[in-house]
Amino acid sequence: MKLKITNVVGARPNFMKIAPLMQAMQADEDISAQLVHTGQHYDTRMSKLFFDELAIPRPDLDLGVGSASHARQSAEIMRRFEPVVLEHRPDVVLVVGDVNSTIACALVAVKLGIKVAHVEAGLRSFDRQMPEEINRILTDSISDFLFVTEPSGVTNLKTEGVPDEKVFLVGNTMIDTLLTNREKARTSTILNDLNLAPRKYAVLTLHRPGNVDDVDTLTRILGALETISAKLPIVFPIHPRTRNSIERFDLTARIQNATGLILLEPLGYLDFLQLVAESAMVLTDSGGIQEETTVLSVPCITLRENTERPITIEQGTNVLVGSDADKMIAAAEDVLSGRVRPASVPELWDGHAAGRIVKILTAET
Ligand code: UD1
Repeated sequence: MKLKITNVVGARPNFMKIAPLMQAMQADEDISAQLVHTGQHYDTRMSKLFFDELAIPRPDLDLGVGSASHARQSAEIMRRFEPVVLEHRPDVVLVVGDVNSTIACALVAVKLGIKVAHVEAGLRSFDRQMPEEINRILTDSISDFLFVTEPSGVTNLKTEGVPDEKVFLVGNTMIDTLLTNREKARTSTILNDLNLAPRKYAVLTLHRPGNVDDVDTLTRILGALETISAKLPIVFPIHPRTRNSIERFDLTARIQNATGLILLEPLGYLDFLQLVAESAMVLTDSGGIQEETTVLSVPCITLRENTERPITIEQGTNVLVGSDADKMIAAAEDVLSGRVRPASVPELWDGHAAGRIVKILTAET
């Protein structure tokens, strides 16, 4: 009998995490893998593009939930996912990351007596204002297989009383995807298209509710960006949530007129990877980008007060500046004047995490 695994994705950062897992599962004749997309992200540029570029199989099912408040979005995911699990009866439901789709589907599965595997378990920012932190804590507390990317995750789970035999330090499937695609990304024409030279620009991403949903915070960040972009062009692919905020707060004209700020629609995986890899620095509030810049050895200035990925600071290129304009500017100046720490790639971030996960799942179920 084959091991039946239902894999769940919902939002953009899930796609690069699932790609190598789907590949490893499809190559294993003892596994029958199903892929369900909740539809939490639905724009072509936030979803389909990644399936095409990363050769993720077309989902067996798209639940089409779309955007809504947290309660309504999560409830809708659960309502639509339950019949899928009842009909398919998998041995394992595998969820990745920390988005609403992660907890919603894990909760459905555990209530139906089905084992839950969580990829990227154990990360903690210790900041319960972040919806992702709630999603992480809850998902881990109901998971049977906790696949962890960095040692801090193992420590956190131990502290929370998770039995050792459920916890597996396996590395980082998002980095599997990065390493697989690094060469291919070099064929991207994005630098030429934007008329940029390597190391002569910065990249910015911004989408955390804490940064973009409050007018004062967003305006303060924008002020610092104006100072930095006067010295070094900043490429800014704008997340839909952030675009909505910019329009709502009447900041569109200001942002369009900022010298050196290059505004773009969200980019595909390969263009974005090439852009980051060749940049002088990245300013971001994303979780995953802190890890990608560490592997690419690109300085990362994180616009958050905390990180659930401390290894990117201890070993990598990451510094935290919150939404403090002076700190943002000082960190950018450090990079511009060559004051950067040497960085190294964390253990097990070697391109083989998905293989380890699949091996453990087949051995233990
Ligand atoms: C979600 C995740 C976050 C992740 C981020 C990456 C949660 C709680 N948050 O945040 O952890 O870092 O994805 O992008 O799950 N929208 C579109 N098109 C889309 C998707 C969203 O226009 O395809 C707009 C909608 O106006 C929506 C807003 O973006 O209301 C926010 O989308 P949502 O999925 O609620 O959360 P994100 O901010 O994307």
